[in-house]
Order: sequence, then C-alpha cells, then structure tokens
Amino acid sequence: MNNKLRFLTAGESHGPALSIIVEGIPAGLSLLAENVNYHLARRQKGYGRGARMKIETDKVDFMGGVRQGQTLGSPISMQIKNNDYANWNITMNPAPIEVNLTDEEIKKHLTDKYITRVRPGHADFAGAIKYNQTDVRNILERSSARETTSRVAAGGIAHQFLKDFGIKIYSQVLQIGSVKVADEYAGNITENEFEQIEASELRCKSPETTNLMKEEIDKARKQGESLGGIIEIIVYGLPIGLGSHVHWDRRLDGIIAQYLMSVHTVKAVGFGIGFEAGIQVGSLVHDEIERSHPESNLVSAYQHLTNRAGGIEGGMSNGEPIICRVALKPIPTLARTEENSLKSIDLKTKSNDVAFYERSDVCVVPAGGVVCEAMMALALADQILNKFGGDSMTELKSNYQNYLAYCLNR
Ligand SMILES: Cc1cc2nc3c(=O)[nH]c(=O)nc-3n(C[C@H](O)[C@H](O)[C@H](O)COP(=O)(O)O)c2cc1C
Repeated sequence: MNNKLRFLTAGESHGPALSIIVEGIPAGLSLLAENVNYHLARRQKGYGRGARMKIETDKVDFMGGVRQGQTLGSPISMQIKNNDYANWNITMNPAPIEVNLTDEEIKKHLTDKYITRVRPGHADFAGAIKYNQTDVRNILERSSARETTSRVAAGGIAHQFLKDFGIKIYSQVLQIGSVKVADEYAGNITENEFEQIEASELRCKSPETTNLMKEEIDKARKQGESLGGIIEIIVYGLPIGLGSHVHWDRRLDGIIAQYLMSVHTVKAVGFGIGFEAGIQVGSLVHDEIERSHPESNLVSAYQHLTNRAGGIEGGMSNGEPIICRVALKPIPTLARTEENSLKSIDLKTKSNDVAFYERSDVCVVPAGGVVCEAMMALALADQILNKFGGDSMTELKSNYQNYLAYCLNR
C-alpha cells in the first residue's frame, strides 16, 4: 500500500506517555485538541470496563504540525500522558534503576511486576519467545490495547478531515455475547439514532437490548468470564470510485479489512450481507441499479435498489453507504482464582501452570466500535488523499468538487 496518510504510534501501557505522528494531512484543516479529545472520551466509556479507565482521562497535546487551530501540512505530533505512570514509575522507568536488594521498595516494584506466566489469547507467549524476553511484561506493555488510544487520536484527525467532505462514520453494537438487537435495527443509522447510540452505555440503539446486554455482562463478571460481540460501522457520503479493481492491493474492501483486522480482539470483518453472500443465490446477493436522482443523493445520479454489497463492488466504493460488520473476541484476561484459571505455562520454570491475572475489563465491545470507527476514518482519509491529491485543503477540495460534479453528470 502506498499510503498518502501515514501514522505511527509509540508507548507502553504503563509507560510515561503515548506518542502519535500523523503525516499527510494537507495544510489548512481546522483542528483543535477538543476534536480529538471528543473521540478519546468516547473510547473510555462502556459498561464492563475496568478500573484503569477511572484512572485515565485521556487528553491530547499537540507537539507539532498545528498552529492557531490550523494544520500546517507538516507531520502532526501528539502526546497523551498515562496518569497511571505515577504508580509504575519504578517498574516502567526508561532509565535503568540501581537494584539495591536492601531497598525493599524497589525490590517489591521490580520483582512483583516481573511476569513469567503467560496469558492464553494474548501476545504474551509468542511475543516472549520471538523477542527473547524472560519478563513477559516487556511484551504485554506494548501489545496492550492501551495502544488503541493512539489510534483513536490519529482517527480523530481523520474524522475531522472527512467532515470537510461531508463524509460521516457511525457505529453501533449489534450483539454482546448471546444478546443481539432485532434485525430491523441493523443496516442504517440516522443522526438522531446516533445520539441515542452515544447515550447508551453499550452503544446500542435499543434501550431494551442495552439492559439485557448489561445483565449478560454482570453474569459474565460473576463467573470470571469475559464477553465479545459484533459491531456495525456505517459510512455515509462517500464518493463513487475510492479504491480500484486494477490491482489486488488497491481494492477498497481489502484495504479497509486490513485496517480493521489489525485492531486488538477483531477476528472477522464482513461487508454488506457478509457470510450470507456465500449461502444465497445470485439474485438475492446482487444489488439492482436504476437512474434516479433524489436531492438527498449528493454523490451520484444513480442508485442501487438494495445495499447487500455494503457499498463496495469490484474493489471500489459505489456511491452507497459502506456497511461493515466486525466480530470481536472476548478479552483474554479472566478474573479467576488459581484453581479455575485458564491452563498455561511458566516460561521460567518450563512447567505447566495457570494464567496470571492483571486488572482487566470484562467487555470492551463498545470501545472496540470507537476504535474501529477511527481505523475506518484513517483508511478512508488515505483513499481521499490518494484519489484527489493536493497539499492544501483548498486544492484538495477543488479537485474533489470537480470530480463530484463530473459524477453527477454521468
Ligand atoms: C478497547 C480494548 C480494551 C481492551 N482491554 C483489555 C483488558 O483490559 N484485558 C485484556 O485481557 N484484554 C483487553 N483487550 C484485548 C486485548 O488487547 C487483545 O485480546 C489481545 O491483544 C489479543 O488479541 P488479538 O489476538 O486479537 O491480538 C482490549 C481490547 C480492546 C480493543
């Protein structure tokens, strides 16, 4: 992939701070810290989150690339402090600490936090072997989904960028564990409904289902279990022709899937009717097209009569909303006693043991939806930059408007 919009993240879960660099945003985009902080706060919410979210109030500081509320076209650098570092500044200090074994406090911090038992379902096992680490903390600190905070910060900039083109990304929770919303709730989200979704503790459209989901989470917590679920992301206002049929690595569905599959706990990504497309006959899978130009359609003089494809045909956006569903696995850390913990191994003693427990969430599906929205925004902002180019927002918007006018006249 030849990305025009690139981003890098750095930082450990209990380290001093998270750092993010976003490169490729043109000059002249209005951007305030609050535009990013809004999304960071959304990621922290959700019934079923653990104690860590009470410690952190994630807020971004711009360190470069923005002046007087406008982007400069230079790399945008951001930092988010980890408040919890105050409790970990011995264990996670970047500088080596003189270990004086008579100093009980330092000994406690270093030895108690030294981990040799791995947690099934995490990066612990493969990471410790691959990177030749004896302290599994050297893996888990970076593999932790704390990193998704950085993605949401980068995504906050992408959301702000897409807004200038009238492109909106919404998401909702469709299922948690075995509790799911009725079919009619899926497939579209109006602005009013999105407000309801944001007000729900589980980012779910139906208040009744929200309550059932909360009961399911309470039950799981009592049993020392965790829960996964399914979220739906819907994108409105996308022009025809993002992505391409000409090469495997330019197909829009493949590109979006890679962004979403890279999110912690995501195990499946589907567009439109997804897996159902493999079961139904052709006439029930493909979307018929007709010439019609309702005033509300700002991107095309044609419309599909259904949207089973989820807005992408032949690797390109087709003018319909993108509809994408994502399955997230239950988080791997289970609050269990030594007796009923998941079986695992100790890499130091090379013997069978049980998984260790470190403070954890029970269900992260609502937060996962916010992270997936951010990754969708980053993928699409990159596609807009790829197709329309430009070093300033003025240049880019002029290219974009010309293309839209052309599309509406075809
Ligand atoms: C927002 C979010 C928060 C998470 N919090 C936790 C947590 O508290 N405890 C945990 O064990 N896993 C948590 N996870 C999941 C792990 O990060 C993830 O399962 C792990 O990295 C391995 O998953 P993978 O195989 O999909 O990479 C969280 C995931 C997300 C998206």
